[in-house]
Amino acid sequence: MHPPAHHTTSGAQHAMRDLVRIGLVGVGIIAKTHLEVLAEQPRVTLAFTADPHRNEAVGFRGTKPPHYATLTHALTEHQPDLIVLATPTNTHADLVGEALTQSSARVLVEKPLVHDLDSLARLRSLQGTEDVHGRVFTAHHFAFSPEVRWAAQQIAEHPNWGPITAITSAFYDPYVLRGEQAFASYVSSWTDSGVNQLSMLARFVDLTALTSAHPMDAGASAWCTAAYRSRGTVGSARLRTSWRTGSSSKETVLIFGHSGVEIWIDHTAMTGFTARGDALLAAYGNDGKTPRKIAHYRPLHESLLSAQPDPVLSFDTAVTITELHHSTPVPGAGVE
Ligand SMILES: NC(=O)c1ccc[n+]([C@@H]2O[C@H](COP(=O)([O-])OP(=O)(O)OC[C@H]3O[C@@H](n4cnc5c(N)ncnc54)[C@H](O)[C@@H]3O)[C@@H](O)[C@H]2O)c1
Repeated sequence: MHPPAHHTTSGAQHAMRDLVRIGLVGVGIIAKTHLEVLAEQPRVTLAFTADPHRNEAVGFRGTKPPHYATLTHALTEHQPDLIVLATPTNTHADLVGEALTQSSARVLVEKPLVHDLDSLARLRSLQGTEDVHGRVFTAHHFAFSPEVRWAAQQIAEHPNWGPITAITSAFYDPYVLRGEQAFASYVSSWTDSGVNQLSMLARFVDLTALTSAHPMDAGASAWCTAAYRSRGTVGSARLRTSWRTGSSSKETVLIFGHSGVEIWIDHTAMTGFTARGDALLAAYGNDGKTPRKIAHYRPLHESLLSAQPDPVLSFDTAVTITELHHSTPVPGAGVE
């Protein structure tokens, strides 16, 4: 049974209702993954889609829900429980604002939550009238990747390894082939992948400051560093992002300098291993049957629809990551 529309504003402490009516805004590349994962959830129905550059409705479990050019039009005819925003990054802030003020739905916005700090301030200013904390969730999907969760579990189970003293992460995407379209959808490599790296690292350490940022290749690449705390110790993360390649490749190495342990995780293959010197301590693989994006978004949506969504999806986490992501670097910040 659908809940009455005026009861659908649910705080993070409440599970979504029995049936969840979803409005999908933006029917581009990542929307396909949302639709595939949501179609697996028997509780979910697709109420509408909205996208000004698409004319036809999309299929969802054998039905074709109504399609609109704009969210504004869709909300005059529907009261969804959840609005999924899968639109270009620089549209997120306006659409989150509209979803908050023109509906009572929860909002799952694609990462990054916003493209600049002014937009973040505008969303925060809605807190006086809207339940921004209870309703806005950001799809920090990399934090749900299986090798990331495996590494986090390894770390939790082995306090004897000591703090993570150094991190190196490199995220490459083949967006050079998409030319200007890549900048239109994702702004820059640091805007797009930096937030994936930071939300993934939030599983392992407490990020404290951006210590350097060097955009290069007109925004298609970057080299940034961030300070963090791990088990009471300060460390430094080196973050490389780039679109200058024909293939996707993403990996992260965590060094536990006090014990000599290293964790290597390959986000492209969703594999990992832990080693100390010549010894292999642990390894993680998968059966090869689940495509990477499904492996991220299936647990993400399961968590969002649960009674206690993972804090990595929360507005607070998005604020922390956005502020760090866009801060003016402070060399030596966080280092004692
Ligand atoms: N592609 C990926 O692998 C991926 C993965 C994770 C997150 N994301 C994020 O998802 C977002 C979208 O990425 P994408 O790759 O799907 O981009 P895309 O360009 O393929 O799709 C965006 C869609 O939004 C539509 N759109 C534009 N403005 C709109 C508006 N005002 N209202 C409704 N629809 C609108 C466009 O017509 C297009 O169909 C970006 O923020 C990106 O960072 C993408």
